[in-house]
Amino acid sequence: MENLVSNASLQSAYKGKKVLLTGHTGFKGAWLMNWLQMLGADVKGYALPPSYEGGIYQLMEPFATGASILADIRNKELLKQTVQDFQPDFIFHLAAQPLVRLSYEIPAETFEVNAVGTANLLETAISLNKRCAVVVITTDKVYENKEQDILYTENDVLGGYDPYSASKACTEIVVSSFRSSFFNPSQSLQNRPSVASARAGNVIGGGDWSKDRIVPDIVRALRNGAPIPVRNPNSVRPWQHVLEPLHGYLILGAMLYAQPVEFSTAFNFGPLPADHLTVQELVETAIDSWGSGEWNNLATPGQPHEANLLKLHIGKAMQQLQWKPKLNAKEAIQWTIEWYKQPVEKQLDFTLNQINSYQQL
Ligand SMILES: NC(=O)c1ccc[n+]([C@@H]2O[C@H](COP(=O)([O-])OP(=O)(O)OC[C@H]3O[C@@H](n4cnc5c(N)ncnc54)[C@H](O)[C@@H]3O)[C@@H](O)[C@H]2O)c1
Repeated sequence: MENLVSNASLQSAYKGKKVLLTGHTGFKGAWLMNWLQMLGADVKGYALPPSYEGGIYQLMEPFATGASILADIRNKELLKQTVQDFQPDFIFHLAAQPLVRLSYEIPAETFEVNAVGTANLLETAISLNKRCAVVVITTDKVYENKEQDILYTENDVLGGYDPYSASKACTEIVVSSFRSSFFNPSQSLQNRPSVASARAGNVIGGGDWSKDRIVPDIVRALRNGAPIPVRNPNSVRPWQHVLEPLHGYLILGAMLYAQPVEFSTAFNFGPLPADHLTVQELVETAIDSWGSGEWNNLATPGQPHEANLLKLHIGKAMQQLQWKPKLNAKEAIQWTIEWYKQPVEKQLDFTLNQINSYQQL
């Protein structure tokens, strides 16, 4: 199998191909839409309208007619029509309710959007009589968290304390069931869809303004000259620049398209072990990159439970996909803060420049 890590190889895999991307109005989805367009793909987005101002999606408008469908993943009829009309070669499924704290406020909706929404999408793919690589994006939080200093591998037990994590573990079970029942790798997948899942760690990068996420909290505070509110300073997370898992998703999609039997499986994408930082280390590196600032410890006894210790084993993606992280944690934070320092009118160009620079690393 050809090594698909290089930009030229990704270009040959995606150029002129039809890619359905759910969640394109969000943080990761908008970065991926730009990258796919740079690779020459014909991309159609499907997601709700953006939930915050200042994201990369708003910088990208206007879109060609039909290239950005603003609709709910739970609208099965419209989703089915979209897939049938577009006949995608690739589907990247990012649309989700992705926030842990919000999942405590809307638990049932989080399960509906994340688990049932994925089932809706995969059901539409059953009727495709063509090769189509479907990559479902879940998270590092799908593993039953033992709060021990271990690196979770793809074979570890699924679980989830908070509704978000549990809904994504359910999403993995949905993927596995559809794979066995409808896209079975043991049968010929020559002209059928195939499905893989991608579990990435905590992602940072420009253009994220979500509520209750650490980077938006940092930038809002630094811009206002206020102390950064930090709820879980000692929590360890697998921080990564957004381009790292996106690179993994693109390689996985291309490999799955070329060899569906071998790659219809789950992959972790995370940093190297030395780059699993505490929230406090992340915040202090961000302050250094910004040039000034301070933070406040807001940990309170009754706050909603969030995992304290979470580390991912990435050997499978490194060996089988030849993917590896290109930026260490410090560089990832610097790239992120540099993005937020740009004036609004330069942010889209800066996004494209960062994709270009990343490809050349
Ligand atoms: N950001 C992270 O650190 C991180 C880490 C691991 C996994 N993920 C996963 O990556 C994906 C993208 O996350 P993000 O950080 O870009 O989040 P985001 O909130 O910025 O984007 C979420 C996207 O999903 C769409 N969406 C939400 N509900 C929908 C619905 N009912 N119907 C249609 N579209 C809907 C939104 O419109 C948006 O386009 C999610 O699946 C998330 O679980 C994110």
